[in-house]
Amino acid sequence: MKQIRPITRKEMITLLNEDLAREYQAIIGYVVYSQTIKGAKYQHIAAELARHATEELDHAVQIARQIDYFNGTPTVTAKTVKMSDKAEDMLRFDLENERATIIHYRQRIRQAEAMGEFALSEVLRKITVQEQEHLTDLANALGIENPEIND
Ligand SMILES: [Fe+2]
Ligand SMILES: [Fe+2]
Repeated sequence: MKQIRPITRKEMITLLNEDLAREYQAIIGYVVYSQTIKGAKYQHIAAELARHATEELDHAVQIARQIDYFNGTPTVTAKTVKMSDKAEDMLRFDLENERATIIHYRQRIRQAEAMGEFALSEVLRKITVQEQEHLTDLANALGIENPEIND
């Protein structure tokens, strides 16, 4: 396991709020893309994207709960969502966001474990399993291999 600098609860709140802002970004992206993606060959993935949206909402609630547990205040601001009228662009935006999200959660799991916050680690691990499924769904729809995730 990589060596990491121990962080404080305050720093963890700040980092979890970054994660929460990424979850909001994912919710918005999946809600909008699932309804605007056009083309017969994208109808299957459109339904998948709608399912992802509900899972991202569940992640957001769980992350907000963890922030509250640390006596922090959950952010109300999402990271910026890119828009395009091209289906492939939308899928690539989602893929890139999932890749970034997985990298951040892997780091957050290490940080949580270094703090002895094993329950937080458990929550983050379960979320990460779903993020990897999202990544795979998007890669399949794009007809590409899962990107390597080097963190
Ligand atoms: Fe998520
Ligand atoms: Fe995701």
